[in-house]
Amino acid sequence: MLKKITVVGAGYVGEHVSQGLMLNELAEEVYLLDVVEDMPQGKGLDQRESAPVWGRDTKLIGTNDWADTAGSELVIHTAGRPRKPGMSRDDLLEANVAIVRPCMEQVAKQSPDALVMMVANPLDAMTYVAKNVTGFPRQRVFGMAGILDTARFRAFIAMETGVSVRDIQAMVLGGHGDTMVPLPRFTTIAGLPLEHWVSRDRIDAMVARAAKGGGEIVKLLKFGSAYYAPSAGVVEMAEAIAKNNHRILPCCAYLEGEYGHSGMYMGVPIMLGREGVLRIIEYPFNEDEQAMFDNSVHATKGLLSDVEKFL
Ligand code: 2OP
Repeated sequence: MLKKITVVGAGYVGEHVSQGLMLNELAEEVYLLDVVEDMPQGKGLDQRESAPVWGRDTKLIGTNDWADTAGSELVIHTAGRPRKPGMSRDDLLEANVAIVRPCMEQVAKQSPDALVMMVANPLDAMTYVAKNVTGFPRQRVFGMAGILDTARFRAFIAMETGVSVRDIQAMVLGGHGDTMVPLPRFTTIAGLPLEHWVSRDRIDAMVARAAKGGGEIVKLLKFGSAYYAPSAGVVEMAEAIAKNNHRILPCCAYLEGEYGHSGMYMGVPIMLGREGVLRIIEYPFNEDEQAMFDNSVHATKGLLSDVEKFL
């Protein structure tokens, strides 16, 4: 268990993250920070009052004051504008740099030894902003999206085949956007390749649906974007950190030569523990998979040149 985790942003994702941290008792204290006066205090108190029912001792504390977050071991940044129907994640770039940048200045000041987990969109670019502004090493700055994209793919496979989600292993890599890279070749159900269970056409349909999975939810909700699956992904990563159990999870990590690319964030399998990104695992891609990954890198690089303008 960690001593102190801060969740920045008490919107739908932030409040579900803080609840997940409390339900799994991943920290002694969880600070839920937001700029809106009284709101994080209200949500924090309500969650704290639920703890006796759940039988959990994690203390949930809402605040508007960065000083309260000092000495956090893990800061999870969820604050940012969500998409509206018809928008891409990339359309949020300028607005969310303006939110992420001052927050990361505060993180560097209040919690200089923290791990930072980015959740705001466009994810790969915002994680880059977090590393750039905090000046933290790559091991301590990473993002959550691959678990979400992979969970969507796994959910669709479960719907298609009727098997338990627990028996489906998959990896969706690349950037968190339309160019993400689902890997059917490395997807198995109880150890058997996906193609043993489902026809090629149906696999292609599920791959396409996973890649557009976030937009499907935005369209249905009309106001705001997904929060149950994203917050579950964050909690799974926080658990790997708090328990230092070296899970291998698809996460947004800074590349220094892995997969043939450097100087940017991409969704790749990492080994995650108390010290952050312990290793990046390189899958043996075939030509098509490498081409899809390179295409995703290309799309994210375009965004990064825009980010430089706002930094
Ligand atoms: C999603 O894919 C919000 O980017 C997030 O749902």
